[in-house]
Amino acid sequence: MTPDASPSEVVTELTLLEKSSLTSGAGLWTTKPIDRLDVPVLVFSDGPHGLRKTASGDLNGEPSTAATCFPPEVALASSWDADLIERVGAAIGAEAQAAGVNVVLGPGVNIKRSPLCGRNFEYLSEDPFLSGHLGAALIRGIQSLGVGASLKHFAVNNQETDRLRVSAEVDERTLREIYLAAFEIAIKEADPWTVMCSYNRVNGTYASEHPWLLTSVLRDEWGYTGLVVSDWGAVNDRVAALRAGLDLEMPSSGGTTDAELVRAVEDGDLPEEILDRSVLRFLRLAGQIVEGRLSPTKWNGGSDTPGRHHDLARQVAAQCVVLLKNDGTLPLDPAASIAVIGELARTPRLQGAGSSEVVPTRVDVPLDEIRRHADPALPFAAGYGLEEDRRDPELEAEALRVASQADVVVLFMGLSAQDESEGFDRTHIRLPDNQLALFDQLAEANPRIVVVLSNGGVVQVADWEAGANSIIEGWLLGQAGGGAIADVLFGHVNPSGRLAETIPLRLEDTASYVNFPGELGQVRYGEGVFVGYRHHDAVDGPVSYPFGHGMSYTTFAYSDLLVASSGSDQKFHVEVRATVTNVGARPGQEVVQLYVAPPPGPISRPRRELRGFAKIDVEPGASTDVRFELGWRDFAYYDVVAGGWQCDPGRAVIEVGASSRDIRLSTSVDVDVPARSVSITPDSPLAEWVAHPGGRAALNRSMTTSPGNGVNQFLTDERIRTLGGFPLRRLARFPGAGLDPTVLDQLAEEVNRS
Ligand code: BGC
Repeated sequence: MTPDASPSEVVTELTLLEKSSLTSGAGLWTTKPIDRLDVPVLVFSDGPHGLRKTASGDLNGEPSTAATCFPPEVALASSWDADLIERVGAAIGAEAQAAGVNVVLGPGVNIKRSPLCGRNFEYLSEDPFLSGHLGAALIRGIQSLGVGASLKHFAVNNQETDRLRVSAEVDERTLREIYLAAFEIAIKEADPWTVMCSYNRVNGTYASEHPWLLTSVLRDEWGYTGLVVSDWGAVNDRVAALRAGLDLEMPSSGGTTDAELVRAVEDGDLPEEILDRSVLRFLRLAGQIVEGRLSPTKWNGGSDTPGRHHDLARQVAAQCVVLLKNDGTLPLDPAASIAVIGELARTPRLQGAGSSEVVPTRVDVPLDEIRRHADPALPFAAGYGLEEDRRDPELEAEALRVASQADVVVLFMGLSAQDESEGFDRTHIRLPDNQLALFDQLAEANPRIVVVLSNGGVVQVADWEAGANSIIEGWLLGQAGGGAIADVLFGHVNPSGRLAETIPLRLEDTASYVNFPGELGQVRYGEGVFVGYRHHDAVDGPVSYPFGHGMSYTTFAYSDLLVASSGSDQKFHVEVRATVTNVGARPGQEVVQLYVAPPPGPISRPRRELRGFAKIDVEPGASTDVRFELGWRDFAYYDVVAGGWQCDPGRAVIEVGASSRDIRLSTSVDVDVPARSVSITPDSPLAEWVAHPGGRAALNRSMTTSPGNGVNQFLTDERIRTLGGFPLRRLARFPGAGLDPTVLDQLAEEVNRS
């Protein structure tokens, strides 16, 4: 296609078979070209944290090549830094462009409903606000290079168990507020060129053939105009999927489903306009890609790109590291007597396993990087093996010997590739037993222990952390993580990562515990909107480390919280300002978090919800002002009865803090919106009648009163308490009710008008 070819004109020139052929892949990663009309081949390749080029032959027979392995999403999210993530996206976009890849399959913004989800390393957070905004940043970055992103997996794909069939049973409010919200934010903010539907079913219907999801919500409500692609192999019924709004099936179906579409159109079962609609979206994407190739931001190569991107990967990884605990042992003095223990220091885990696995351009080994900063001959012992969770007395004895001769032990612990991967969920969140056994012995032999964790999903720390002086949560940090860890250990970088997910005391404390991963093909999201910190805060339960937590080598003080509200109803708006001062001795970065506690209303709501965040640099002794804007939607909930977003009037609490459990400043603001209007009908319960303005007075007027007290027998407070649930129409039929059943409609009208 030439850049000025109009997709709608091209559609009219295509035959029915050609049109059908454009709605499915040619191979694993490519679509079909139509040479006579210059419709190009589109090339997809996995992300989200680097380019995964396969040796499938689809990339013009190129052999599989290496790409920069940036920190996976679990780590990226801990940076809480949208600008930095956008830079990662741009670097991935540049590598994609250079490799001839047109669409990068990521980011994934599915919510971490349970720490057990085997693919949590590939997702951002337990919170939709954070996931949505950080996902948007990655999309913006990738697309700035004229390469498309694919926002995945739409929707409610929060587990690997039975992922191709399981039906996520979720109520609409929970869908809207939690599981769809991250997609909504990312789509509205960054307009991804493609959205990938998930494998699973949502309330009984495959996501790939869900008209409500793919058309009513995604397009009609959110205004999305891009292309919906299936997850690889997610199409169950091609005709139903096309009707529902799934434009492109990937990978190739060998022509089978193209023929099905042709037949359905010819038989009159599928209106051709529906096929045209999807073809048009495909051609628009092709047009964007052709234009992208010519775009002035086109990456112009340069021989040192791997080097520059590796440096970026290191800089980013250092921002993702979360200092969970520190008694002052960190940062380390390079001249101190240090021993490094743990196979993971020598054999680092860069990323999770499955479709997102990138072949790195090079790997920084933590042990080497630590030695570079300190004694080049600094002692090391493996302590445990990674292949299986089996104790090895020789390795343990050697580790104890090495540790006992040092002042500080830096112990690497974590999960291995076999513990977590796409395709299956974990069954527990403990570290391997062989590592925990080693930890206990080291804690006895050497009182100063710094633990460095490598894990894609959350691990339990409650059972051992008392024995550690400092803990660094390193997640999976990509190919340059080794250098980043050394930078943080020795204080060349002041840690600024914050938890994007709660570390619970026990798996049993998590909200989805009794409903994960479901059974008999269904998983019930029984905890509703109370996911992650929303649950822990609602039950006021202790956690090991809360959402948003992370320490620094400096200290920040918060002051001067100011809120100013303006507008009313849907224009209601609040400006929030606060000042953060670095009262320590080192430059550092703070992640200022804004939570909103909604006004009390008719439905049960989380105690606080993240509605803003800002990562700021502050020099010692200096102060920085942060400013947030809140709109009507930030105070709203999804009202399933009214079928829309609803905001209640009242006093909301605005909290600014350093984690969901470390609120430093708070104040309240009046939410200036009209009260929810409840319409009264003759079938409304008595309690609703009397609660309605004018309702009690109307009933008093229309009901005969008892001779004794001048009040109808059903209108005493005591009776209302016990009989308030009765619909008025039924009460009116009771003997002696004193209410004419024929006037109820008129009475309801009067009350509704009052
Ligand atoms: C994964 C997707 C991935 C696709 C292509 C699927 O199994 O769920 O995330 O993009 O494969 O590799």
